[in-house]
Amino acid sequence: MSDPSSWDSPLRDERDRRLPRIAGPSGMVIFGVTGDLARKKLLPAIYDLANRGLLPAGFTLVGYGRRDWDKQKFANYVLDAVQAGARTEFREHVWQHLAQGVEFVTGGFDDAGFDKLSARLSELDTARGTGGNWAYYLSVPPEFFSSICHQLERVGMANSSDNTWRRVIIEKPFGHDQKSARELNEVVNAVFPEQSVFRIDHYLGKETVQNIMALRFANQIFEPMWNAHYIDHVQITMAEDIGLGGRAGYYDGIGAARDVIQNHLLQLLALVAMEEPSSFEPEALQAEKTKVLRATTPVHPLNKTTARGQYTAGWQGSEYVKGLREEEGFDPESTTETYAACTLEVNSRRWGGVPFYLRTGKRLGRRVTEIALVFKHAPHQPFQNGQADALGQNAVVIRVQPDEGVTMRFGSKVPGSTMEVRDVNMDFAYAEAFTEESPEAYERLILDALLDESSLFPTNEEVELSWAILDPILDYWAEAGRPEEYPAGTWGPESADKMLRRRGHSWRRP
Ligand code: BG6
Repeated sequence: MSDPSSWDSPLRDERDRRLPRIAGPSGMVIFGVTGDLARKKLLPAIYDLANRGLLPAGFTLVGYGRRDWDKQKFANYVLDAVQAGARTEFREHVWQHLAQGVEFVTGGFDDAGFDKLSARLSELDTARGTGGNWAYYLSVPPEFFSSICHQLERVGMANSSDNTWRRVIIEKPFGHDQKSARELNEVVNAVFPEQSVFRIDHYLGKETVQNIMALRFANQIFEPMWNAHYIDHVQITMAEDIGLGGRAGYYDGIGAARDVIQNHLLQLLALVAMEEPSSFEPEALQAEKTKVLRATTPVHPLNKTTARGQYTAGWQGSEYVKGLREEEGFDPESTTETYAACTLEVNSRRWGGVPFYLRTGKRLGRRVTEIALVFKHAPHQPFQNGQADALGQNAVVIRVQPDEGVTMRFGSKVPGSTMEVRDVNMDFAYAEAFTEESPEAYERLILDALLDESSLFPTNEEVELSWAILDPILDYWAEAGRPEEYPAGTWGPESADKMLRRRGHSWRRP
């Protein structure tokens, strides 16, 4: 069996990327395995990894929870999740092989449950050859992190040694502000050293997000223009058409900014704004992102530079959908925002004076995530026929999803006898340029955690700095009353458009 610790960063060079990266002997315990995330994402991703031959022969998947399930019952549950959600084709022999290593241990957060778990993992180490290497996936709300970590420590299942490793994989929300994030990090880091903690931000597992680094640092044409001399402003958009039916328990009281700006959108900002790392080793990459986050602040006054909305009933395409406050489980008086936008600046030589506009919302016109770098106008405009003013600004648009790719927008002469110039797009589309299908973000991230490859996981410091950026905005909103309403199927509240108009800009209509 290959030794995972001998493999280099997948981002580093061609040679490494072509090597098959197979996880070494190991197993994974999932806490919260009956939840939505495990069913829809984690279990299918584990099957996909097995199907691609990237898991070790004795890979063992242990579900832990209160249900009185035996191995067979759990295997049926995993099978259902796999058949409903796997990306790759279902192959009976792959499933049969994986199913041999599927186990369930019944227990709560008490001593008895963890004593049982510990005894079972030791037996499995011998029976399945997992070698004492375990990843603990905490797919549970953060209030349980402390009990789980302490129990794992108490039974001696948390500490790595020279020959074995123990890692913890955790899911957001990493707190609800900087203070609580710090407390949470302390709880986890008291048991697991930082290098054994893998915080999932699934956006970092997306191919298109990793491509930001390739686009910037593997090419010559973009980087010379990637700064305040040429860029007028940056727009980072994560729009979704789905509503929040069924997610009240998690979302009510959390809202759009905490749900995705604090993590996904600020990570995108960091990757777009950072300097070239000295290598793509985790420490070097994380250090550059950290520098950006440390230099990022909200632009004031917040009543003019931020916007917040909540969707009301409306037409989403051909369907008439409910407003947030009518969705099941939401407080009919809920003030939770389903749309959030803010203006940030990165206080560095490269970016001084360039506004970074971030926006996200549910029940918007359509699902799209993109990063647009919008250029300044050319310093001199030789076409005096009145068309130049109407021309848009040049832009590089990284299309994160769907329709993954990159667009460049520039002016071009319209055929004919007059010198009329109009904006046109030049497109690169993943689907046309490559035949390979991208793995799901969770496949990539679970495999990376098993391989001890932490480049794509935010550190405790990144998480705390991201909260520090958002905290003043959240405090301001907490005092500012109800969010503005916007009908489902539109592009958000009027205040979001005003926010840009004040600076002579407008949102792209993706
Ligand atoms: C999650 C958020 O992190 O990302 C959800 O909690 C959101 O609210 C989801 O819908 C979007 O992920 P994706 O990969 O579909 O863009």
